[in-house]
Amino acid sequence: GDDGGRPKDYIEAAVRQALVKAFGEAGAAAAPMVTAATKPEFGDYQCNAAMALAKPLNAKPRDIAQQLIDALEVADLCDPPDIAGPGFINLRLKPEYIQSRITAMLEDESRLAIAKTTAPQRIVVDFSSPNIAKEMHVGHLRSTIIGDTLCRVLEFQGHDVLRLNHVGDWGTQFGMLITYLKEEVPQALADGDGGEGSITAGEVDIGDLVEFYKKAKERFDGDASFKERSRAEVVRLQAGDPDVLRAWRLLCDLSRREFQVIYDILGVKLEERGESFYNSMLGGVIEELREGGLLQESEGAQVVFIEGAKNRDDSAQALIVQKTDGGYMYSTTDLAAVKQRATQERADRVLYVTDSGQASHFDQVFQVARRSGLAPPSLQLQHVPFGLVQGEDGKKFKTRSGDTVKLKDLLDEAVRIAAEDMEKRLAEEGRGMGEEERAVARKVGLGAVKYADLSMNRESNYRFSYAKMLSLQGNTAPYMMYAYARIQGIRRRATTSTPISTSDPPRIVLEHPAELTLARTLLRLPEVLTELERDLYPNRLCEYLFDLSQRFNQFYEGCPVNAAATDELRASRVALCSVTAATIKLSLGLLGIDVVEKL
Ligand code: ARG
Repeated sequence: GDDGGRPKDYIEAAVRQALVKAFGEAGAAAAPMVTAATKPEFGDYQCNAAMALAKPLNAKPRDIAQQLIDALEVADLCDPPDIAGPGFINLRLKPEYIQSRITAMLEDESRLAIAKTTAPQRIVVDFSSPNIAKEMHVGHLRSTIIGDTLCRVLEFQGHDVLRLNHVGDWGTQFGMLITYLKEEVPQALADGDGGEGSITAGEVDIGDLVEFYKKAKERFDGDASFKERSRAEVVRLQAGDPDVLRAWRLLCDLSRREFQVIYDILGVKLEERGESFYNSMLGGVIEELREGGLLQESEGAQVVFIEGAKNRDDSAQALIVQKTDGGYMYSTTDLAAVKQRATQERADRVLYVTDSGQASHFDQVFQVARRSGLAPPSLQLQHVPFGLVQGEDGKKFKTRSGDTVKLKDLLDEAVRIAAEDMEKRLAEEGRGMGEEERAVARKVGLGAVKYADLSMNRESNYRFSYAKMLSLQGNTAPYMMYAYARIQGIRRRATTSTPISTSDPPRIVLEHPAELTLARTLLRLPEVLTELERDLYPNRLCEYLFDLSQRFNQFYEGCPVNAAATDELRASRVALCSVTAATIKLSLGLLGIDVVEKL
């Protein structure tokens, strides 16, 4: 059967049909419960539906399992199923099916014959999202890396993905920044090039924006009249005063350029749509909340009380949407963004990739969006939380001197160490580093940073260790990249040795247990991706890759490729190498990591 490379989906659909056929209404209500088998002796998949039906049907699970098997039509894909223990149905893919999949994969190295989803969605991924004039920190780096991978996977699956950078480019902090800019660096605003200001706007270097922010904040905190002037600037900014807007734009532009440096290094593309984009919609949000009867006044502020959640002191939780002075909140902007994404963007699903510290913010925003109707019931809203980045000692991530780590320095350091390691290895072979080797080291260094982050369960805190992430051993990017390059080497040697005179495509031989295990592992990628699409845990893909590399090693140990007994066998084994390499390349690509042909 043409299952688009998703045998599990196909089997699940077949079980669903069989359930209806065998048990009618009770069967239609039951879940197919098809999972990957936990042990190879159980085959490839296991179906546990019979156990769940025992009660409603008042029958023995083993009898139910037999009836289910009798109605089940999976002969295209599976050997005749068997029943194990109390009523588990074990399903084993037929070797001919596995062979045909491998052949299809061999002929489509870029997608590995994985069909796009038949139910494409419009998905907004809100990620990275640093704040203007503040530092883009390691938390934003995690969001950028995880968010980018989720986008890549969803795009690959065939969804229509909108990558949005919800930068913090609005708020009262701009009052103090603009006042400081006007008073301390007026030259920066003197030139006529408002919009696309240069970092040395009007030939004036306003220096490190983070330093600039600190100095502005010091003035703001220590000087009452400065504070007053800052308040006035906020009012003028909100009123759209052109001069103030020009100053604001300049600050945004300077930050944007610094952020872009990081995105370019990482190869991440996303569209900036900051908080300011939603300004004009905020008043309307308050109105809708009022009309919906959700708005209440509490200590002068406009709030919505949250259902089913209490503060520590047992008082009701309130989401503030408008302050006493009329100013709006971070949450108000998020409510406006939910509505804009639902209506204008026609989103089916929105993902928010931020640290777990914002979990309750999103819980509250989602609840209010639902109750007010700003989010239609069909819209799926999901916070994708992640843990903290820590130093190797489990403490706050800092430089040796105790300063916060600049992202550019962090990435440069990973590349530097990767290059140093490589130089040592090459020196042992009497070789030196050329331009090509430097480019490779760069890919290894950046790949290592990404993979280290992605291979952790995102909800755990993650200890940043250059030594671990750059190690050639273990579940790391260098290990996977090395595995890929090694397989490419095997393939190169195979194609340059005596030409293979067999059919094209070659017949896939799965006689040795290691060949069969490798092939079955190769077939699992689509399932891993479907699960990733649903649950949003990139570490599952890393685990799969690591598992695949071990299976390949076992295959290579047990099954000589170039020294295979016959031409036919050699061609088949080279094909298994090719599909393995293509699987690693595709998977690393989805993780935002480039492979290299030689390492
Ligand atoms: N700028 C925020 C921060 O740095 C993250 C924004 C996340 N996205 C959102 N729609 N709230 O913490």
